[in-house]
Amino acid sequence: MREFTINAFDFHLGMQASERFGFNQDTDRDGVQNELSPEQIDNIVMYQATLSVPEKILPTEPDILQQAIAGEKLFADFKCNECHRPYLALNNNNWVFSDYDYEGNLRGEVDLTSSLLLGKRPKVVDGTVSVPVYSDFKLHDTTEGVDSQDRDALSMRTIPGSDEFFAGSSHFVTPRLWGVGNQPPYFHNGRHTSLREATEAHAGEAHKMRDSFLESDSADQEALIIFLNTLQVQQPGRVN
Ligand code: HEC
Repeated sequence: MREFTINAFDFHLGMQASERFGFNQDTDRDGVQNELSPEQIDNIVMYQATLSVPEKILPTEPDILQQAIAGEKLFADFKCNECHRPYLALNNNNWVFSDYDYEGNLRGEVDLTSSLLLGKRPKVVDGTVSVPVYSDFKLHDTTEGVDSQDRDALSMRTIPGSDEFFAGSSHFVTPRLWGVGNQPPYFHNGRHTSLREATEAHAGEAHKMRDSFLESDSADQEALIIFLNTLQVQQPGRVN
């Protein structure tokens, strides 16, 4: 995360972290030296590492709550969970986040299950933390075929400029569904603005699951969408 952060500041904001670009240097010649100190990078990394985690925001209206519960079951019945695996199991203390600099010095460490952090945090149960990611982190082709508007015109996982790169791609990593209820738009291209539209846009490897959704009655369809809407990430600082 430290490396990603330092890259992003350089690419997007034209600000160079001293620990990478050198102290008392002005490598981009904008007249400013020491644009980001190691301590500032420490703080930005820790801020990101401790951002709110996803949770289910359940409806308070009893009828709608029942629909949300039914919808979660339908998510499994329709086999959506074959790709959108509900939980990622962390063990071996992998919920402790450690931040190292380029020289391998430990800059900071935080237990992400700590109750001292803001908002709800996942708990350790029998040595495991179950993170509700709803992804298998694998590549799948969920497009209608070569003419699909959901294909990527460029294949980002190949060498830029190569034939494969320009051939485009229909394979996408199953996105995590945490936060899907309050973080539209959907798909890699942001082409789908509602959860129903995103669900209906599944084809290819997911066409059977999509058809199960489409062939179910309207109450079941609504229940599934209500369930997806419960998967939210709240703003940092929200007190539950
Ligand atoms: C074969 C694997 C697979 C199955 C089965 C599957 N999905 Fe997906 N899902 C994906 C992939 C891959 C994407 C991203 C496609 C893209 O970005 O172009 C996606 C995207 C989504 C999104 C949008 C998420 C976002 O942030 O962009 C939602 C919502 C979703 N799926 C719900 C469902 C539901 C509901 C079902 C069952 C009816 C289902 N999925 C079945 C692989 C799958």
